[in-house]
Amino acid sequence: MIELTNITKNYVRGAEQVQALRGIDLNIAGGEFIAIVGCSGSGKTTLLHILGCLDKPTSGNMRIDGADVAKLPEAKLVRIRRERIGFVFQQFYLIPGLTVFENIALPLVFNRKPKDRDRVMALIELVGLAHRVKHSPSQLSGGEMQRVAIARAMVNNPQVIVADEPTGNLDTATSEKIFALLQALHGTGLTIVMVTHNPDLAGRVGRVLEMKDGRIM
Ligand SMILES: Nc1ncnc2c1ncn2[C@@H]1O[C@H](COP(=O)(O)OP(=O)(O)OP(=O)(O)O)[C@@H](O)[C@H]1O
Ligand SMILES: [Mg+2]
Repeated sequence: MIELTNITKNYVRGAEQVQALRGIDLNIAGGEFIAIVGCSGSGKTTLLHILGCLDKPTSGNMRIDGADVAKLPEAKLVRIRRERIGFVFQQFYLIPGLTVFENIALPLVFNRKPKDRDRVMALIELVGLAHRVKHSPSQLSGGEMQRVAIARAMVNNPQVIVADEPTGNLDTATSEKIFALLQALHGTGLTIVMVTHNPDLAGRVGRVLEMKDGRIM
């Protein structure tokens, strides 16, 4: 489904060039559950951003379902990002002034879809927050906030969930619950790519990629 060939990413930081990715070759098949592990600064987030079309590589080739991403017009790329990929981050990034329901429904608004109340409610049930629909994020625990973020990532019915340390801010028991939720989504056919510093969780997915200095070991 996603094919990366010799992908590099350089950042410019002042006078310095940072080689965040130094030649990544990676094929991801639909339905995989992949964990990316590695030291801080090894390029995990950079790789996720490229996989999720949030950022462009400096060089190399990336194909999604056979189509060369570099040749796609920006509008098409925006559509891929909105409709096919769901993002989950360590810091949740919920909007404080919106309720649980409204946070989850937000991508529907950006996608100019009519508010699909039933879909949002079904997702709220799926992540176990039916009793929190009208709460604001500040009234939720960390695990509840991450469940809202996962439901939000799911609302446009993506094929891929890209998660950057989704349990990084959570205690062990809560991490287990979030991981179980991701496993359940994977069980429905979703492709999941998850960065984690938790070796126990990484050991329980289909494939583990270890990154070091911008390369997959
Ligand atoms: N926007 C940026 N500008 C300049 N350098 C950057 C930028 N983003 C990342 N880098 C650098 O690129 C390298 C890889 O960063 P990346 O965030 O991908 O690492 P990571 O493996 O996700 O680390 P962590 O585990 O700490 O999240 C690091 O050296 C980082 O300092
Ligand atoms: Mg990172």
